[in-house]
Amino acid sequence: MIGRLNHVAIATKNIAAAAKVYRDTLGAKVSEPVPQPDHGVTTIFVELPNTKIELLEPLGENSPIAKFLEKNPSGGMHHICYEVDDIYAARDRMKAEGATITGTGEPRIGAHGKPVIFLHPKDFVGTLVELEQA
Ligand code: CO
Repeated sequence: MIGRLNHVAIATKNIAAAAKVYRDTLGAKVSEPVPQPDHGVTTIFVELPNTKIELLEPLGENSPIAKFLEKNPSGGMHHICYEVDDIYAARDRMKAEGATITGTGEPRIGAHGKPVIFLHPKDFVGTLVELEQA
């Protein structure tokens, strides 16, 4: 069911420092920071030839990555995002498979303007998984 790897997301307390590492040390193409108040994060995209890295910094009081950064103060891999052709079919399949969809369990518009669901790490080898409509 899953298709291409859309992005790997890395959470950090200091997105400017993270962007510098990717741009200056690793020599990647790095976007400007984009505050996303609806999602409680500021994002920067690192464009690679075959996929993207999404750098995330908490924004506002109830950021969904705040807890993760409490547990991982130096930052770390937060989630991976796979593309699916049909987000509703993917949701139905995940429910049928007994996987836990976070939040309301319904697709919502993600940080890239496309419908997404997030799957609880306990069912996916300890990794938070985002499924995004391609
Ligand atoms: Co993501």
